[in-house]
Formats: sequence, structure tokens, C-alpha cells
Amino acid sequence: MKVVAINGSPRKGWNTEKLLKEALRGAESAGAETKLVQLYDLKYTGCKSCFGCKRKGMESCHCILKDELTSVLEEIFEADAVILGSPIYFGSLTGQMISFLERLKFPLLSYDDFSRQLFDGSINVAFFYTMNEPKENYKNVMEQSIQSHSQILQRLGGNVETYASCDTYQFNDYSKYHSGALNEAHKRKVRETQFPKDMEAAYEIGCKLMSK
Ligand SMILES: Cc1cc2nc3c(=O)[nH]c(=O)nc-3n(C[C@H](O)[C@H](O)[C@H](O)COP(=O)(O)O)c2cc1C
Repeated sequence: MKVVAINGSPRKGWNTEKLLKEALRGAESAGAETKLVQLYDLKYTGCKSCFGCKRKGMESCHCILKDELTSVLEEIFEADAVILGSPIYFGSLTGQMISFLERLKFPLLSYDDFSRQLFDGSINVAFFYTMNEPKENYKNVMEQSIQSHSQILQRLGGNVETYASCDTYQFNDYSKYHSGALNEAHKRKVRETQFPKDMEAAYEIGCKLMSK
């Protein structure tokens, strides 16, 4: 069994990557072979609207653009599960994650019949979101957008699970940054009490991904 994790955060070693690595650890404990891809290390674009994936006679459900994302997309289609992670930027995902998702999702959509499933395999998906917003605001800000991403990711034929890690810790030393509007003591408390629970949840989700 193979699991590929995709880090949509530019910050290696921070909240999003920590959760992804923990989910991968869970998957490994259940016997998976794993790989972590750093989107910010790659040179690629979003969908260029070439409609190559919609051309008659072309192979469907795969993006035909050739750049540094091509082999990553190929690996995803060969995997049993994929774990995505993105910080929330301005109420949405990071630019790199959005571009990646355009390339993954658009070819999965049939222009002949929107309800048709083009991919006939089964890839489970877990999507981790990290954000500064506290949990109580998360539903208002993000839920609709998260649901819409999940809906298209279901076209990979497996289960789609989402997890939001809220109120994240943003700097190693708050005193060095203009951060007066953020309550560092509260952030530290969340870091010490809630984030370990988020890590446990990530591990469990990683294990669960392996049960098809
Ligand atoms: C450019 C930028 C925009 C952000 N926009 C939001 C936002 O709209 N809502 C939010 O809750 N957090 C926002 N944040 C905070 C990040 O989502 C949060 O700190 C996240 O956990 C960072 O992930 P990382 O630690 O993996 O880098 C933003 C951060 C940056 C740098």
C-alpha cells in the first residue's frame, strides 16, 4: 500500500507539515510505504485551460501539462491514499495548493456528464487544514469551501476525510514580530493543549486511510 502526502505550506517543519508527517506515521504503522511532497519546492502552474484532458481521443482524468507536478500527479494515481495539507490563506488555500488541486481535479470532471465518474480506481483522501482562526469561527469561514473541495476529491473513488487544526501557533518568538492583535498566551495554551490532540487525530486518520 502506498500513501503520498502533499504539503501545501511553504513553511517546512511547521503546523501543516507536522500534521502530515504524523498522519504518514499512522499510515506507516499500518504497513504503508509513504512519501512526502513539498509543493513549494516544485516549479509548476495551475490549470492553463488547454482542455487537453477534454479532447476526444485523449486519455481522460489525467492532466496533460508537463512540468514538475506531472510526476507527482502520476504518483497520486498509483497510490492507495493521498494526504493533503494546507494552511488557510485569506479564507482559502495557499496558492500552490490551489494550483495543484486545479491540475488534479479538473481532469476528473467529465464535460459529457458532470455526474460521471471518470477514474475507476479508489484512492482515499485526508485533507488537513491549519489556520489562525479559532475553532468556533472555522465553520463560518471555511466549511462551504472545504465541502466543495471534498466533493470533487470524491471523484478519486475513495473516502474523503477532512480535519481542521485551528488557532495555530505562528512564530517561534512572538516578541520579535508585530503581533499585538494576537494573544500569544492563548496561542501557546492551544499549542500545548489542543495541538497534541490534533497530532493524535492525524495519526489515527493516517491509520484509518489504510483500511479500504
Ligand atoms: C498570507 C497568509 C494569510 C493567512 N490568512 C489566514 C486566514 O485567512 N485565516 C486564518 O485563520 N489564518 C490565516 N493565516 C494563518 C495561517 O493559516 C496559519 O498560521 C497556518 O497554521 C500556517 O500554517 P503553517 O504553520 O504550516 O505555515 C494566514 C497566514 C498567512 C502567511
